[in-house]
Amino acid sequence: MLRIDYSDRHVFVAGGTSGINLAVAKAFAGAGARVSVISRDEGKVQRAVDMLRAVGGKAQGLAVDVRDSAGLASAASALAGLQGPFDVVYSGAAGNFLCAADSLSPNGFRTVVDIDLNGSFNVMHAVFPHVRKPGASLIHVTAPQSSVPMRFQVHAAAAKAGVDQMTRVLALEWGAFGIRVNAISPGPIENTEGFSRLMAPDEAARDFALSQVPLRRFGRTEDIAELALFLGSEHASYISGAIIPCDGGGSLESVKPALEAAGHRSLHR
Ligand code: HXC
Ligand code: NAP
Repeated sequence: MLRIDYSDRHVFVAGGTSGINLAVAKAFAGAGARVSVISRDEGKVQRAVDMLRAVGGKAQGLAVDVRDSAGLASAASALAGLQGPFDVVYSGAAGNFLCAADSLSPNGFRTVVDIDLNGSFNVMHAVFPHVRKPGASLIHVTAPQSSVPMRFQVHAAAAKAGVDQMTRVLALEWGAFGIRVNAISPGPIENTEGFSRLMAPDEAARDFALSQVPLRRFGRTEDIAELALFLGSEHASYISGAIIPCDGGGSLESVKPALEAAGHRSLHR
């Protein structure tokens, strides 16, 4: 893991209780940061806090839904009160599933947009009063389908495209405060919820997904954690407004969804 000293810094991780985001939270904790995590499930939050403390970090967590703007504002205020102003905010809460557009209900579409896009707005809004100015770094989490259209992903593609453009607008506005704003775009990261739901529901789909990655390996959660450690640090002090793929080159291919190649022509439920 990249060796950057985060002692005396406070990192807020939205959705930091499983998968990629938990690995990111652990990497910051291992680098000496005080880490605060939030997600919906109280039990997941407590387990994540225990894990972060076990790797040596000072950690706190609260259960809150990113769709609840008032609850999020209270949580951000409480966590900043406990551990100080935020130096890095990593905003990665998301929900996703495969569904053909014509069978997706309006509420299904709205749910994913509410979590991924409106939730990212709510996180940004809640943390702003508590981020260190100048010097802080906001890191959004997007996905390749924000720019590469993918079948069965109309909800997530629309939401993450919004996250990309929000990243750029915030970089314009927050540059004046000395706050850098960037986004990480992970490719298929193995052993994660997103990977099993979207890229590898069966062996054929998994093989096809692998064939679409020029480096011929799936990503690891540590790959994203290393990039987050770098982006949050002074080593990235002139990087703002960037959407950075961490995908083995996968977004360079004209990606077809693995499911389609595996012959799953219809996803009607
Ligand atoms: C079609 C679905 C559906 C599915 C839910 N819905 N799952 N529609 N196919 N598989 C519809 C429901 O029918 C409902 O609409 C609406 O969505 C809301 O569903 P709820 O279950 O009430 O929502 P909620 O409890 O808020 O849960 C949100 C969720 C859930 C997104 C649906 O899956 C979740 O909590 N996910 C979090 C974990 C996750 O998804 N991780 C992966 C992230 S990967 P109706 O009309 O019936 O009321 C990622 C990108 C990976 O983001 C990119 C890889 C390249
Ligand atoms: P994951 O394990 O399901 O992580 C999602 C996290 O967000 C969990 O901690 C979850 O905890 C939290 N969350 C979900 N809905 C929330 C809500 N409404 N309010 C607050 N927290 C919420 O998924 P992952 O696969 O590691 O994905 C992590 C990030 O990477 C996401 O932004 C995803 O879009 C992105 N991504 C993943 C891949 C991949 O291959 N996995 C590829 C591209 C992009 P609770 O359930 O407790 O709320």
